[in-house]
Amino acid sequence: MTESVAATSPQSPPLHVVVLAAGQGKRMHSRLPKVLQPVGGQTMLHHVLSLADQLGPSSIHVVYGHQGEVVQQAFAQWAGTPLQWALQEQQQGTGDAVNSAMPQIPDHAKVLVLYGDAPLMDLGDLQALRASTDALTILSSQVDKPHGYGRMVRDEQGTLRAIVEEKDASEEQRRITEINTGVLSADAKALRRWLSQITNDNAQGEYLLTDVVGLAVAENASLNAIVAPDADSCLGANDRQQLAVLEQQFQQRCRQQLMQQGVRFADPNSVHIRGNVRVAQDVFIDINVVLEGDIELGNDVQIGPGCVIRDSSLAPGTVVHPHSILEQARTTGACQIGPFARLRPGSELSAGCKVGNFVEMKKSRLGLGSKVSHLSYIGDSVVGSHVNIGAGTITCNYDGVNKHKTTIEDGAFIGSNTALVAPVTIGENGLVGAGSIITQDVPENQLAVARSRQRNISRRKRSS
Ligand code: UD1
Ligand code: CA
Repeated sequence: MTESVAATSPQSPPLHVVVLAAGQGKRMHSRLPKVLQPVGGQTMLHHVLSLADQLGPSSIHVVYGHQGEVVQQAFAQWAGTPLQWALQEQQQGTGDAVNSAMPQIPDHAKVLVLYGDAPLMDLGDLQALRASTDALTILSSQVDKPHGYGRMVRDEQGTLRAIVEEKDASEEQRRITEINTGVLSADAKALRRWLSQITNDNAQGEYLLTDVVGLAVAENASLNAIVAPDADSCLGANDRQQLAVLEQQFQQRCRQQLMQQGVRFADPNSVHIRGNVRVAQDVFIDINVVLEGDIELGNDVQIGPGCVIRDSSLAPGTVVHPHSILEQARTTGACQIGPFARLRPGSELSAGCKVGNFVEMKKSRLGLGSKVSHLSYIGDSVVGSHVNIGAGTITCNYDGVNKHKTTIEDGAFIGSNTALVAPVTIGENGLVGAGSIITQDVPENQLAVARSRQRNISRRKRSS
């Protein structure tokens, strides 16, 4: 396997990342394994594996166990460095978990351990750990509320002597505010030796990875602790409150990045990002907007309040008015969408189009300058340029078994409250009278009226 560009020097040992993902996460009270809980629309484990992948490792080992198949299934489509799955049959602690992956790791490797429930780690910190030439390097952080974390116990000289878990800590140790983030790097050979020596003689009755520190100290091995500059990036989630904190942190990061790229938010805190958003300059996003999946927003795009946009690409100058829902939609020029429009997958709008209130579109294309301004359903349709579709037009695309196509050619005008029963074509500059039910093609330049004729009948005078 090729060594990565991220390697620190040509001689640096191959990097094997071990990601711990076997725990149940009892404190979540969920039927989902903890590492599959989402942050920013992706599972926590996905974030951790993406980080691991960015280090360009020789191998990524995922330790799995609790609901193992569900965890594996979630990464069936994983496209990064191939995952080596290591089964931990019984969840006997983080030390036992790392041990489950060790048979697949050669002695000369550098091992980096990541926890599947800490998804916001900083890539620079991980690179620093990877580059460390010490036998063992721990990533710690300084926090105001250390409760629940393992404490970094240092001697008077400031040298790390041990990590003590909350449940095993003395009153005095519990006051320590430097905590173990869970991330460490170690030489594989030494790590294997220490792991074989740890016992479950502690308050939790588990084999704790953190005990390798004491063992390294006893051996006089070279040991180092790096304090992460940004403690928030090291936060883990054991329960729903902590998960909500991670979500806030993640959202804040996304919004900051977007603002750095030129997005103006009416209220950044009200916008949620659950995916990958690419933006040009001077994009404006109003309050309570959700952006999901792969999104591309061109120069001067405006998103009104209350919109939900998923997997869509909007050309420069497109304005999405309030409360519109877009999924797999695309504009190829400046358009007006909404308020209250619903663009379903396969909606494609050319420059100058207008899709107004209570209009639903699906698998349909609108040509240059075409308008569907009110209360319509346009499905499986190809609409040419400068077409005007009146209020209440329905393309009847479904006969109960199959979907059929509607074609409306350039310059056609569809009167209000028309049903276009597909398959059907309205020719260029064709005109359809309001209230028509069109079941046959309309040739170009012709007017079709398909409704019962109005009769005016004189009424008898009412006797007073
Ligand atoms: C752990 C650390 C603690 C640290 C904290 C940082 C230990 C003993 N404690 O505590 O020092 O401050 O993380 O967030 O390491 N897992 C397995 N198999 C197991 C047990 C756990 O794969 O048998 C996985 C879990 O799925 C999880 C990770 O290891 O992804 C950490 O386990 P968790 O129980 O959350 O450890 P903490 O109590 O948070
Ligand atoms: Ca944890």
